[in-house]
Amino acid sequence: MDCCERILIDEGSLAKRVSEMAGRINADYEGKRLTVVGILKGSFVFIADLMRRITLENVEVDFMKVSSYGPFTDAMDAISVTQDLDADVRDKHVLIVEDILDTGRTIAFLLGTLKARGPASVKVCALMDKPGRRLVEIEADYTGFRIPDEFVVGYGLDYAQKYRHLPYIGVLRKDLVK
Ligand code: PRP
Repeated sequence: MDCCERILIDEGSLAKRVSEMAGRINADYEGKRLTVVGILKGSFVFIADLMRRITLENVEVDFMKVSSYGPFTDAMDAISVTQDLDADVRDKHVLIVEDILDTGRTIAFLLGTLKARGPASVKVCALMDKPGRRLVEIEADYTGFRIPDEFVVGYGLDYAQKYRHLPYIGVLRKDLVK
């Protein structure tokens, strides 16, 4: 697709890594009640592929949406929940699924919000990690790919709401960024 200057992670590599991540999750949560929480919108492709490789008996999927903090603030208290979970997570094991861990502010906010609800545990699964951009000291428990600080789109990730449908992760052409 000509919106990208190059493909960073191709379809085959995504499928292989998602399977490996699901394998670890299956082993770690065996015999437990797990609620997988997808953070919209960016996680929708990743979570669809990941969930189909989960073999646990006691697993549910739910979704949350949070407002982004916007370009003009660094404050984490500027983040808020705009769409909440349907179910109560008290005494359940929660796995937050994100497409990308960037500054870390979204995950820090979500960990605080969800831990306050009395779950058995809360962990984080991020397909991609941009450690070079971190502002909050935080790491995912499951990480798919560590990537450089480049603008990536596809496999759920957008630029101005476009390109989420691309089946691979690509580096957006710089001349398309306004
Ligand atoms: C992206 C991504 C994470 C967040 C990560 O969401 O899906 O939720 O940013 O960034 P952070 O680590 O700097 O907080 P975005 O706000 O772009 O919304 P979207 O998922 O709807 O695309």
